[in-house]
Amino acid sequence: MSILDLEEFESQLKTSLIGRARGHGNELWETIGSTNDRAAELARQGAPAGVIVLARQQTAGRGRQGRAWESPADSGIFMSVLLRPACRQADLPLHTLAAGVAVSRAVWQIAGVRVGLKWVNDIVAGGKKLGGILAEVPGGSTREHQRPALVVGIGINTRLSPESLPDELKARVQWLENLSGQPLDPSLLAAAVAYALEELCRLIEEGQAASIIAEWKGHSVTLGRQVRALTPSGELEGTAVDLTDAGALVIELSSGQTVVLNAGEITIRGIDGGYA
Ligand code: BTN
Repeated sequence: MSILDLEEFESQLKTSLIGRARGHGNELWETIGSTNDRAAELARQGAPAGVIVLARQQTAGRGRQGRAWESPADSGIFMSVLLRPACRQADLPLHTLAAGVAVSRAVWQIAGVRVGLKWVNDIVAGGKKLGGILAEVPGGSTREHQRPALVVGIGINTRLSPESLPDELKARVQWLENLSGQPLDPSLLAAAVAYALEELCRLIEEGQAASIIAEWKGHSVTLGRQVRALTPSGELEGTAVDLTDAGALVIELSSGQTVVLNAGEITIRGIDGGYA
């Protein structure tokens, strides 16, 4: 069984910026609280863009909306990339979508599995969660002559044993080796994610985010579906009809009115009429 290995990961890297920060090596931890927290700490210490923090296990892995991210040893990719993007604050959410597209490219290339993307950051397969993205702007990480930091945290389940999961998650999670039926080398997958993320970040910087949105739409399991969203002004229900160029979700209400959701959480109506 192959496990995440820094030498193997770096030997597979085809990037020129991500994972190649000048004067600062990448990190692989046997066990850490959260790779996102470690990358934020490095950002506050002034680490340059491109540094990658990897872990074989997280003891305090974090998901969106304050949820925990289960991270048993060697069960997945736990990876955080420190970026310092040269873009407007308003373009930052695009990096979450870009990370989702990067994961979909890498998973297809390494495991031959086609994933779905649920707005805004869920990686799904067969209606179950395979991975997620947590993009955060760490406070206190901006220094003179340095652009503000953005930490993109990526979790992908590769090799789970359902017994290790809390009961409420068992029916809702998926993992790559289960789908492909093949052992997977996590170092190869992490290197492929880094390469795809670099390509997509370059597109954002070149003002070509529209092509990322188009690729995201090609993987969407959200558009055309009946959704429920929690917004600061309450819950709303409607059909997810489009994604804007900035990555916001357009929902059409039964009144015909459209609402643009820049951030937040949605649930999708299933064939049983329930929302998940
Ligand atoms: C979600 O779907 O809720 C986002 C999950 C993000 C998990 C990854 S694992 C690596 C990085 N470190 C963390 O603590 N979280 C992210």
